[in-house]
Amino acid sequence: MADNSNIELPETLLNAVLSKSPSQGFTHTFYKYPARFSPEFARTAIQTFTKPGDVVLDPFMGSGTTLIEALVSGRHAIGSDISRLASFIARVKTTILTSADRDVIEKWVQEIQLRLPLTQSSMHPNQWVKEGYQKDIPRPLRKTIEYILCELDTLPRQEQRKLVRCAILRTGQWAIDCTSTFPSAAEFRIKFAETLQEYFRGLSEVQEIIEANFNGQPPKIICLAIPALELNPALWETQICQKPSLVVTSPPYPSVHVLYHRWQIKGRKESAAPFWIVDELDGHGASYYTMGSRTPTGLNNYFKSIQDSFIQIHKLLAEDAVVPPWDWTAGKVKTSVYTIGKKGVQNGTTTEIYSGVQSACCP
Ligand SMILES: C[S@@+](CC[C@H](N)C(=O)[O-])C[C@H]1O[C@@H](n2cnc3c(N)ncnc32)[C@H](O)[C@@H]1O
Repeated sequence: MADNSNIELPETLLNAVLSKSPSQGFTHTFYKYPARFSPEFARTAIQTFTKPGDVVLDPFMGSGTTLIEALVSGRHAIGSDISRLASFIARVKTTILTSADRDVIEKWVQEIQLRLPLTQSSMHPNQWVKEGYQKDIPRPLRKTIEYILCELDTLPRQEQRKLVRCAILRTGQWAIDCTSTFPSAAEFRIKFAETLQEYFRGLSEVQEIIEANFNGQPPKIICLAIPALELNPALWETQICQKPSLVVTSPPYPSVHVLYHRWQIKGRKESAAPFWIVDELDGHGASYYTMGSRTPTGLNNYFKSIQDSFIQIHKLLAEDAVVPPWDWTAGKVKTSVYTIGKKGVQNGTTTEIYSGVQSACCP
């Protein structure tokens, strides 16, 4: 790795780090993924440290903020997450549907709205029920979601079906997650149609940028659903042959309670419904997604896992790669650019993990 210890932090990057502007524009609002970072930060880091055609890596990509900002900035991107839910969302957010696809979905929504009478018995998906994925979801909402999911097969393309699943997921989150009162089935249906319109606007914005730039050759975006520890060039080198020259990432936070994989129902119960809606099995507890519980043993596991992950990430990078992770100190931004150079991690606040990375990279 090159020695990046004298790297200058441009003011634009510091301003982007401190920015409190909400995630908006493009496809960022497709799902309110917990602990998303600011698109402005990701964009500025990408534009500061790479040039068009370079490769950006996010090994803990969550809902794919880095990937979208790489895409619209003309950089290739590789992202991965241990969660299939995260990977599903990131993939949908970075798959650009054509206007013909959007027309098909729009027509489909109008047709199914007429076919959603709640008086009919719903198609109860037994496996999901048996496994408890629908537990505690209010009946009218559960039935409405089931109906819409059952209609998915009438959409011709897989990409169209995935976009619609994501819109159901987002509407379900709006209706169920951390809400004090639940909307009616009719309100759910209206919100679902509005969500799709919002999706179309975001996708059109991305499409316009891609068509107006990059000589009609959109950057390549790879979304994987594996732990950072298992990242391996064989997974992407048929599509992207260069090594990543920048890592923009925010790994799970130690000792912080974040529910990445569940919705919270009335502050008391946790629901696995998001996995049912995106048609992925889960089966893991919260500590799987946070790299360890908040017990002392859990924290040890966390630091061991994150160190091993960064050792693996380090092996994947180009010689002159730069690594600016999001600051972990609960909203208090100190210095936000860390580079892995000859002298290890530079310019960062010293935390256990960065010391871990330092010794991992520079034994
Ligand atoms: C803070 S979130 C990332 C949010 C992301 N920056 C965004 O804007 O949406 C951390 C992510 O790390 C993922 N994760 C936890 N352990 C992992 C591992 N071993 N390998 C890869 N991803 C992991 C979690 O599932 C979670 O999605």
